[in-house]
Amino acid sequence: MAESGVDCDIRLTDFIASEPWQKRMLLTAQNYIADNNKKWLYVGGQVGCGKTLLCSGVFAGMIKKEGLQGKYMLWRDEVVKIKACVNIEQEYTALIEPLKEVPILYIDDFFKVERGKKPTGADINVAFEILNYRYNKKLATIISSELFLKDIVACDEAVGSRIYQLAKLSCIEVGKDVKKNMRLRDVAV
Ligand SMILES: Nc1ncnc2c1ncn2[C@@H]1O[C@H](COP(=O)(O)OP(=O)(O)OP(=O)(O)O)[C@@H](O)[C@H]1O
Ligand SMILES: [Mg+2]
Repeated sequence: MAESGVDCDIRLTDFIASEPWQKRMLLTAQNYIADNNKKWLYVGGQVGCGKTLLCSGVFAGMIKKEGLQGKYMLWRDEVVKIKACVNIEQEYTALIEPLKEVPILYIDDFFKVERGKKPTGADINVAFEILNYRYNKKLATIISSELFLKDIVACDEAVGSRIYQLAKLSCIEVGKDVKKNMRLRDVAV
């Protein structure tokens, strides 16, 4: 976990589910760990609703349960590095191959770009290369994003439909509602 850049102490039990929408999130995550069957988990929607906490807990749980190697990819950081060496084959391969091959990949904040902008063609190429490989090999993949799946399909149908097909049974989408931003709890909103 530490090598993967994720807080080693995060567990799914840290996710407090006191409201119905949180209970639905937790149940989907628990079912995914119990029987992931090499499918994918998608958690999208409201800023601050606990997507990263939930997915990190699932990621830690899967690594413990399956005893497999995992990798954490913070999308906006890694994609910048990968795009910067797209013309330097050796460096490009060294960065992207582990993300394609690792048995469990968690992509956090997928397709996060500057406010008001959309993922570029270069972003979509990187996403397609990683996700198409993992789709073909049916490798466990956890994705969290502020976007809903329909937004990803609208950005790129090839990427979005692959995620949809493999994550449709383990898909959580939290509707936009500032009251669900846990960072703002205890603050009047
Ligand atoms: N169900 C929960 N139980 C306990 N703490 C929570 C819960 N949900 C969120 N938090 C806390 O609220 C904060 C925001 O959660 P988190 O970072 O997981 O949200 P996010 O949906 O990934 O946000 P962003 O869209 O900005 O990436 C964190 O400090 C997290 O630990
Ligand atoms: Mg997050």
